[in-house]
Amino acid sequence: MDGIKIEKMSDNTENTEVSLEKIFDEAEDFLPLNGTDYVEFYVGNAKQAAHYYKSAFGFQSHAFSGLETGNTENVSYVLSQDKIRLVLTTPLNADGPINKHLNEHGDGVKVIALWVDDATRSWEETTSRGAKSFMEPTTTKDKDGEVVQSGIHTYGETVHIFVERKNYNGIFLPGFVKWESNYNPPPLGLKFIDHMVGNVGWGEMNKWVDFYAKVMGFAQLISFDDKDISTEYTALMSKVMTNGNGRIKFPINEPAKGKKKSQIEEYIDFYKGSGVQHVALATDNIIETVTSLTERGVDFLYVPSNYYDTVMDRVGEIDEDLEPLQKLGILIDRDDEGYLLQIFTKPVEDRPTVFYEIIQRKGAKSFGKGNFKALFEAIEREQGNRGTL
Ligand code: FE2
Repeated sequence: MDGIKIEKMSDNTENTEVSLEKIFDEAEDFLPLNGTDYVEFYVGNAKQAAHYYKSAFGFQSHAFSGLETGNTENVSYVLSQDKIRLVLTTPLNADGPINKHLNEHGDGVKVIALWVDDATRSWEETTSRGAKSFMEPTTTKDKDGEVVQSGIHTYGETVHIFVERKNYNGIFLPGFVKWESNYNPPPLGLKFIDHMVGNVGWGEMNKWVDFYAKVMGFAQLISFDDKDISTEYTALMSKVMTNGNGRIKFPINEPAKGKKKSQIEEYIDFYKGSGVQHVALATDNIIETVTSLTERGVDFLYVPSNYYDTVMDRVGEIDEDLEPLQKLGILIDRDDEGYLLQIFTKPVEDRPTVFYEIIQRKGAKSFGKGNFKALFEAIEREQGNRGTL
């Protein structure tokens, strides 16, 4: 993690920078995380959502649980692309907790699952520091071995499940079978989850920053206040939390006062509370990936062409030609360590809630601060079309 700069945990935004390595060497990492295990969405119709993620995003059919496997409660489709695993779950009956979640929030992220070596210890370390338990350590088994899972609540109705799979060789989790499909569009070069952003309510950002710091041992990487992230009309604040090895990064946003309703407030109105705003997926070739996503029908935020009039003055030399970036609407930003290319989809469900970011990092470890203004003006145009600005 050499080179990552983080600010000391504090509420002021002085740029006291120390290396991430130093911060995490000072104390034992009590919650070692190997990476994101999977992200589970509760959706209204998992069969059709799975088709969308295959046809539009290039996800591969991976595993399945449902009536055919003896699961009479719900159906889950697991999709994969390189290291990314998405689970789409729909209830089979009325009036259960998943139905309630869907009724309240619409389609959205329920579980951010984290891959650990010891799910029991992860649960003990976090609950002893104040996390509310979602699931006590539970072992499930099948012919391929056993998995231990435990879980805690985070913002809104979102939960973290710790997955210990070192004694398991099956396709996904006990109860799942390989999903054999005749429809297998090729993958689009999406590699891993770069970061996942949570939107929380007015004045709640620091509460959840403290949760990730105290309960999960994360450190604060960056802080943006409403002066960093504002346009003429709307504003928000954001802090980025990271775990010890930097594999898990969770920016947390809260709305800030502006002349008009911010995108975070719009999200919270439609999601009926805090939840996951966007999932950033990394690629090694953003031009190829976004060209294919566009051809397959994924809608991206429109960036006005005058963004490209001045961007090269701001970011300097880059490896890519500007023309394809401009044609696709890909944004560029630079920090001390390099640059990054990023683009944002429109929401992928009918409520204006969850969307995706596609990101390619070329040295930069930041989150595109230089693009915030252009990006939020683009979102305001969409809000204007929805009548929610
Ligand atoms: Fe992002």
